[in-house]
Amino acid sequence: MPASPTPHVSWKDRMGPTLDGLRRAVTTEDGPSGVPARLRGWLAGRRSSGRLLFLNFRDGSGFAQVVVAKNRVPPESFEAARACPLESAVEISGAAFADARAPGGMEVRAEAFAVICAAEPYPISPKEHGAQFLLDHRHLWLRSKRQHALLRIRDEVLHSFREYLREQGFVCADTPIFTPNACEGTTTLFETQYFDRRAYLAQSGQLYNEAVALSVGRTYCLGPTFRAEKSKTRRHLIEFWMLEPEVAWAELDDIVALAEGLICHTVERLLERRALELEALGRDLAPLRRIRAPFPRITYDEAGEILAGKGTGFTLGDDFGAPDETALTEDLDRPLVITHFPAAIKAFYMEPAPGRPDRVLGLDIIAPEGYGEIVGGSQRIHDPGLLRRRIREHRLPEDAFSWYLDLRRFGSVPHSGFGLGIERFVSWMAGLSHLREAIPFPRLLYRLSP
Ligand code: 4AD
Ligand code: MG
Repeated sequence: MPASPTPHVSWKDRMGPTLDGLRRAVTTEDGPSGVPARLRGWLAGRRSSGRLLFLNFRDGSGFAQVVVAKNRVPPESFEAARACPLESAVEISGAAFADARAPGGMEVRAEAFAVICAAEPYPISPKEHGAQFLLDHRHLWLRSKRQHALLRIRDEVLHSFREYLREQGFVCADTPIFTPNACEGTTTLFETQYFDRRAYLAQSGQLYNEAVALSVGRTYCLGPTFRAEKSKTRRHLIEFWMLEPEVAWAELDDIVALAEGLICHTVERLLERRALELEALGRDLAPLRRIRAPFPRITYDEAGEILAGKGTGFTLGDDFGAPDETALTEDLDRPLVITHFPAAIKAFYMEPAPGRPDRVLGLDIIAPEGYGEIVGGSQRIHDPGLLRRRIREHRLPEDAFSWYLDLRRFGSVPHSGFGLGIERFVSWMAGLSHLREAIPFPRLLYRLSP
């Protein structure tokens, strides 16, 4: 006889409601006035007023106030809740109620409290710790309310970027990390062993994107990239994530518009879906609400003229430094697009500007509020002869680029793309003073752990 089928229980039903789900249930208008709950999570904080304990409880989906009243729980529950160390794993049964005075508008009243795994004395306390101490404890620091908000903001940014590009018909293709050649100049390459050969960690997925764009038209990659930059600034990571769209037939103006659309979409989604997290970080939302397309647009030479009056020490022909970028955007409430850079300071693959062979069709987008360059991109050289010349002029190994030159031999078309630095963008959105908090485990000049 066949066994009677057991009804399928979804994994979410098996796991039970989260704080986030409970909050939605009790805070909706006409919602129930008490929802029974069994919660599993961690003790994030505690305040006591004799017979009442106010716990700050975290279950991963959010934080909530749990009230443990001495006369409403068994004595051993009260004692456990009063004495257990912070960051212990705990289980709480009780009921959730809407309460306008409680953080987040919900309070959980405990009926039982049990410690599942008592924590050792927790190294991170509410007192101020230095940045190095916190980075040394990054694996634990991630549990804080602030980092919790940042993890969700980063996730929302990545999701919204993907969402926008998918709506525009882009195909995500993943590009390799081990590569035989440089994309963004040979000075910042991380060299590594690839069996008996030399390989480099990817600085950009662009060259591979160009191959994919000639297959599917609109593509992007999103992944970690590596730069051996000996710079110890608040805007540089050694390992950072980059979103890189690449579009066949697109010229410079087309991808400027693409970047504007992508950025505006993501700012809007963040304001819609992550306003609470942004506010938890103290981010002023007003400047974000002002981000609208089109962005103001100038050429490199026009930027040079503006800087001449600002006294940042900028010399025409140089790349912009952080003070130049800040000076250029100080009166702006949206990002600034700069195009037509000197060929000499940009990568080998950029298309020369028509009638100005010393200028290239490159673009940088500078975020307002002092956040600096968030996007770098260009129209690409599609002429095989010119591309080969540039590879030689830049003293790049021609044989490693033979496959890239092939793209110009078989149905070459104008095409363009850009790279957007995820951590730079997240920092700007969240109003961070340093990139190190915009990625779960930052890799900095002097930091490889945890
Ligand atoms: O301007 P970059 O170097 O451009 C490229 O890599 C192109 N190949 C991209 C393309 O066209 N597909 O880098 C693009 C962006 C910068 O604007 C910045 O936001 C970010 O990547 N970026 C960094 N972010 C953090 N730390 C670093 N060291 C970064 N270097 C670049
Ligand atoms: Mg750049």
